Amino acid sequence: MKDRKKPGFFRVLFWCTLLLFFSGFTLSHLRLYFQEGFQLRLLSTWRPPAMEVISGDSASFLTISVQETVIFPDQVLVFLKYPPSTRLFTINDIDCVYLLVPNSSEPHLKLHPVWIDDQYFGHQIIRCPLQTHGRIVSIEVKSSGSLVPKPAYRWDSLAYEAILDRDNTTVVFVKGLNLRSGKVSDPSKFECIFGWDLRKPKFVVRSHVVTVAQEIVRCKTPPSILNSDQGFDTNINDSIKVSVRVVGRQTLKSVARLKHRLEPATLSKKRHEMCICTMLRNQARFLHEWVMYHGHIGVERWFIYDNNSDDDIEDVIETLVSKNYNITRYVWPWIKTQEAGFSHCALQASDSCEWVGFIDVDEFFHLPLGLSLHDVIKKQSRGSEVAELRVPCHSFGPSGLKKVPVKGVTVGYTCRLSGMERHKSIVRPEALNSTLINLVHHFHLKAGFRSVNVNGNRLVINHYKYQVWEVFKEKFYRRVAAYVSDWQHKRNVGSKDRAPGLGTKAVEPPDWSTRFCEVRDSGLKERVLKTFTDKKTGRMPWQN
Ligand SMILES: *[C@@H]1O[C@H](CO)[C@@H](O)[C@H](O)[C@H]1NC(C)=O
Ligand SMILES: *[C@@H]1O[C@H](CO)[C@@H](O)[C@H](O)[C@H]1NC(C)=O
Ligand SMILES: *[C@@H]1O[C@H](CO)[C@@H](O)[C@H](O)[C@H]1NC(C)=O
Ligand SMILES: *[C@@H]1O[C@H](CO)[C@@H](O)[C@H](O)[C@H]1NC(C)=O
Ligand SMILES: *[C@@H]1O[C@H](CO)[C@@H](O)[C@H](O)[C@H]1NC(C)=O
Ligand SMILES: *[C@@H]1O[C@H](CO)[C@@H](O)[C@H](O)[C@H]1NC(C)=O
Repeated sequence: MKDRKKPGFFRVLFWCTLLLFFSGFTLSHLRLYFQEGFQLRLLSTWRPPAMEVISGDSASFLTISVQETVIFPDQVLVFLKYPPSTRLFTINDIDCVYLLVPNSSEPHLKLHPVWIDDQYFGHQIIRCPLQTHGRIVSIEVKSSGSLVPKPAYRWDSLAYEAILDRDNTTVVFVKGLNLRSGKVSDPSKFECIFGWDLRKPKFVVRSHVVTVAQEIVRCKTPPSILNSDQGFDTNINDSIKVSVRVVGRQTLKSVARLKHRLEPATLSKKRHEMCICTMLRNQARFLHEWVMYHGHIGVERWFIYDNNSDDDIEDVIETLVSKNYNITRYVWPWIKTQEAGFSHCALQASDSCEWVGFIDVDEFFHLPLGLSLHDVIKKQSRGSEVAELRVPCHSFGPSGLKKVPVKGVTVGYTCRLSGMERHKSIVRPEALNSTLINLVHHFHLKAGFRSVNVNGNRLVINHYKYQVWEVFKEKFYRRVAAYVSDWQHKRNVGSKDRAPGLGTKAVEPPDWSTRFCEVRDSGLKERVLKTFTDKKTGRMPWQN
């Protein structure tokens, strides 16, 4: 709430009068604005903030602009576009400003941004608090003035990512088609739209859809776009936008730009045998142990889809990268998109990974017989038609602990349930069905490929699912933030998704530390202690 201007009496009077007088006009204007997303004229007092280019010709001044605005349930994401080599803003450089009418020169409200993320393909994502009044949001650069706002799109009816696949089709990730899960839909009912500005019918190119299923549409890429150099720019500097429409209906709004192009397939072996894709939110403190351990058993590359973390994940990843772990973080602000995120990751990984495992940060591959991942993968995939290894999971409980274990989760938690949980998969991205359908961690495979169930004595996943209360209780809030089933809601008490026997409040049950404990299992603990304990200090490398 910093920097919020006190409304003077005359300003209030002015606004009230204006609002009353123009209310009819204002409302329809706003509605039109949201429905049609028409382009705004310049704000009357708008001037571009002049930012000095840090490298290169110091006399040149370039413009920073709002490229997209997307409304989420609790925040508004403003994507800022920068000229190359410009210093990025920090949270102290800017304010979120809220306007009542698109061309108003006086902001209705000014608020501090909630968070800034600077890794979105050379863009910055500014998270602004959502306001019911003044839903037209822009960014004010302190001492420089406001940027021209862009029409705000809703997150749940939007084309939001696009990748050019190595077969030259374009894979578009969309919300709002409401297609059946796990089923292939009829591609002839859809159409793909490409262009620099999708609102200008004269300048868009249409193409037909190759496959469509769930929230993924595979489009034929128009030759004019394939052959243009400008289509793919890692900076999304004016790169091509893609969207989709149901034939005969309106084109979905789009923020999806063709910013990735996968390398053409080569016959030679992939660079990495085993990679991991994960999606996480605010779990940086678990990353060290998880990455180092998996590196030790043979994982060579990590793709981390960051679901809006506001912890110190960037620093943690930087530290790990400096120790030669090959980790890439993708900012993945989209919600209710876990399946799509996995498909996106599988595509990214298909360039360089023979196999990809999809696990969470509280899950660890464990090899009870002391083998390496390489051994197991080689043995299990002897038939070249095997393209999915289904690995069983064990769920660990708090194991009698009341405090976060200092030596890490693998050393701390040693008691689990006896039954197996739903398994997780390791797949060959090459063999995925081109629809990229995936459901609870299972991808559909191309015809001719099959899966095998891995014997849990060889390879199993230790899922540290029920950790000490201090950690576990965050699931209550995390769920809320992620808009999956809300654990604080009575309606969801019976949901399969939650721990049994809990109420709707994050209150520690008196016997929490002894729950979920049926079998003592310290196999992974022993391997980790033996491998990682520092001989001099007795500490683990990830210990604080
Ligand atoms: C965008 O990229 C084009 C080349 O593709 C370049 O000429 C232009 O200067 C770039 N614009 C900005 C603002 O960086
Ligand atoms: C705002 O825009 C409307 C229509 O676009 C125009 O009629 C009106 O004069 C504008 N107001 C200001 C203050 O520029
Ligand atoms: C994809 O398009 C590029 C550019 O037009 C072309 O050089 C390449 O051969 C195409 N690849 C395939 C697999 O069709
Ligand atoms: C990320 O967000 C998605 C969509 O809301 C959710 O399904 C998923 O559980 C979240 N993942 C994590 C690790 O929080
Ligand atoms: C990480 O792996 C990718 C291929 O997946 C490779 O291009 C890149 O050079 C690697 N980075 C490091 C630091 O080894
Ligand atoms: C992908 O799956 C669909 C059905 O789910 C099937 O009709 C199609 O043949 C599969 N594609 C390939 C390349 O195997």
